[in-house]
Amino acid sequence: DWIMGDYIAEAVEKIRAQVGDEEVILGLSGGVDSSVAAALIHRAIGDQLTCVFVDHGLLRKDEGKMVMEMFAGKLHANIVHVDASTQFLGKLKGVADPEQKRKIIGGEFVEVFKAEAAKLKAGGKGHKGATFLAQGTIYPDVIESGGAKSKKAVTIKSHHNVGGLPEQLGLKLLEPLRDLFKDEVRELGVALGLPPEMVYRHPFPGPGLGVRILGEVKKEYADLLREADAIFIEELRNFIDPATGKSWYDLTSQAFTVFLPVKSVGVMGDGRTYDYVVALRAVQTSDFMTADWAELPYALLKRVSGRIINEVRGINRVTYDVSSKPPATIEWE
Ligand code: XMP
Repeated sequence: DWIMGDYIAEAVEKIRAQVGDEEVILGLSGGVDSSVAAALIHRAIGDQLTCVFVDHGLLRKDEGKMVMEMFAGKLHANIVHVDASTQFLGKLKGVADPEQKRKIIGGEFVEVFKAEAAKLKAGGKGHKGATFLAQGTIYPDVIESGGAKSKKAVTIKSHHNVGGLPEQLGLKLLEPLRDLFKDEVRELGVALGLPPEMVYRHPFPGPGLGVRILGEVKKEYADLLREADAIFIEELRNFIDPATGKSWYDLTSQAFTVFLPVKSVGVMGDGRTYDYVVALRAVQTSDFMTADWAELPYALLKRVSGRIINEVRGINRVTYDVSSKPPATIEWE
């Protein structure tokens, strides 16, 4: 609509005035906020923006591909894709404690990003060197960092909105979404041409699959989980509720698969199997502080479990999590 068009024109002018002919770095996570910030800044200053996408190896299936296709392929933005999965998995070896895993992933993420940012600050190859760091900080983040923070909120910050980084890097801060609420950010994203499936995605935690694999993270587990989770999400998107005409993906606030590193006995053909277990989790919530487990249709659960067990070699049992928050949390770690 034209009001959003006006908003974009104004925001673009503001960014151009602030940046001038200088260069900007942005850490792209694939999440809604950083994606919309990238699309908006790119609209304003084009090649003066370089996005850094750090892949920690704990992303969902095809996520890296999707981000690259969208930003490099469709928007023709400058983007550095850092595949740091081996490095992250190495650091996580032998670590089973959830909070320690979060710290390692968050800390490593900042290190990798800082190293890339330093290169971009130095310039070269037609670039004079960046002077700005852009972040997808939105209004609720601004409020949150002013008030009391929970332990988890601190971790979220250190991973996503990388607090204190501009000062450490000696870069000026550019935060074009600071005045917007989440729903406004989504509308802006769609108006900028980002696909609605991307902009209306469920939230995904910064540590990614790292907190959805219980205990020690291994590549084998992450690969199995990615396959199982992709099936769950695909079926949620395809399964339409006749009463509302909406998909079960849109009827849930967050849905995902959890990898349980235990084996159970099963039977396939005339052989015995001894394979891993996954749990499906789907919740409905308005604020993520409390949440109800979603009453997914049995037909949907049946289809998902049938597909996972038949298509993902290494998983022979699927369970559904019927715990609400509180006392359970949404994530298992
Ligand atoms: P819990 O599990 O605490 O999750 O009920 C509430 C919401 O927060 C997300 N979450 C995280 N997000 N880094 C993040 O960026 C984290 O370490 C983290 N832990 C939980 C979770 O996905 C849910 O949306």
